[in-house]
Amino acid sequence: MSSHPDDSTFAAFNRMQGMGTVRDPYPEWADLRREAPVQVGDTDRFLPPGSAALMGERIAVALSFDAVSEVLLDGARFPSSGYARTMGAVMGHTILEMDEPEHHRYRALIQTAFQRKQQQRWEQEIVRPTIEARLERLRGAGRAELVGDLTFPFPVAVICDMIGIPKDEHDTFHRLAVDLISVAFDPPRGLAASQGLGELFAEVLAQRRRQPANDLMTLLAEAELEGTHLEDEQIFAFFRLLAPAGAETTYRSSSNLLYGLLSDPVQLDALRRDPSRIPAAIEEGLRWECPLTGIQRTTARDTEVAGVAIPEGTPVHVCLAAANRDETRWDEPDRFDLFRTQRHHASFAFGPHTCLGMHLARMETRVLLECLFERLPGLRMDPEAEDVHISGRMFRSPLALPVVFDG
Ligand code: HEM
Repeated sequence: MSSHPDDSTFAAFNRMQGMGTVRDPYPEWADLRREAPVQVGDTDRFLPPGSAALMGERIAVALSFDAVSEVLLDGARFPSSGYARTMGAVMGHTILEMDEPEHHRYRALIQTAFQRKQQQRWEQEIVRPTIEARLERLRGAGRAELVGDLTFPFPVAVICDMIGIPKDEHDTFHRLAVDLISVAFDPPRGLAASQGLGELFAEVLAQRRRQPANDLMTLLAEAELEGTHLEDEQIFAFFRLLAPAGAETTYRSSSNLLYGLLSDPVQLDALRRDPSRIPAAIEEGLRWECPLTGIQRTTARDTEVAGVAIPEGTPVHVCLAAANRDETRWDEPDRFDLFRTQRHHASFAFGPHTCLGMHLARMETRVLLECLFERLPGLRMDPEAEDVHISGRMFRSPLALPVVFDG
């Protein structure tokens, strides 16, 4: 059985993200940003109910592009260790919650697999065949729902193949990946998923120790830190982080980009005619509708950002989505415009924790567009579809993308 976004596991998670209800948080973020680039106040003023671990505290929120960059570039003043209280409870001690120098040592163990030059291998061996197989099923149908049929399932299949998870476990992996990050609103579900993923990884690890393969499980099984192999739990923590990172981000970012294109046939046509613009379109999609709108840091000492004082030990919500629509950096920031002058956006974060999977995500999205243009000629939004839109607060994407095509 293949997972579908309407299944109860995924639908429950999406509801907690405000999908289907929170349609446009950008005006609120813009008002806050114009009031002050950094705000300090009670959690419930800024964060959705899903942020249970931080509820009842005073937090800071960074909203302007400059404030967001300043926080993310300074890992000593704004460490990531606060994730130990939230994601750490279910993922274990991952690179997400490590600070320097520990972070650099562990990230280096897996970094090579995600470098730009490695992407050619993943593209040929995994990404293109996965997407083509999905599109083959749509051949001759004339219509499709691109989230359920394509953008939701394909990135999970890719990360599973990269890790070495057997095909018949992909669906289990997908459900557990989403259950894992449901910990914010359903802790028992998150903890059970953590254990379930551990058991799944243990089987694959044991198998790879007997018979190594060319995958990430083998890479970490053989990795050494100061002459010592990693413990099993350290390996599982890496993959518990890659599970939602692989399942929840590219699916949403590629859906958002497709939504931007399908709702503007002129830009869609321009891209179809000139595919050399695909990289620019991908960056503009990421800027315009960031799939993961915010991340977390903590202040290591009393400090100040953009003239706003933040006391030591304050959780800092770094609003990447607000930074991406800072009108002092982009003209008409609310508009999706693949012809605009490219400027670096915040969707992959900055500094030591800059997204490890960004080259993979970009490549996956490029291949997706190339294959769609090639295999679904005349692709356009289904003219009978009503009120297709993006929604959500922490994660954002469309619930469905009904399309028609020729043939
Ligand atoms: C468009 C898709 C993606 C977006 C927008 C995205 C966004 C981000 C962001 C904002 C961070 C920083 C988190 C923080 O510092 O708190 C991050 C980190 C990370 N991402 Fe991604 N991500 C995407 C795809 C992926 C993929 C496909 C993978 C791998 C399968 C991945 C793996 C990671 C990992 C391992 C980290 C932690 C890096 C570290 O702490 O050093 N990401 N991502």
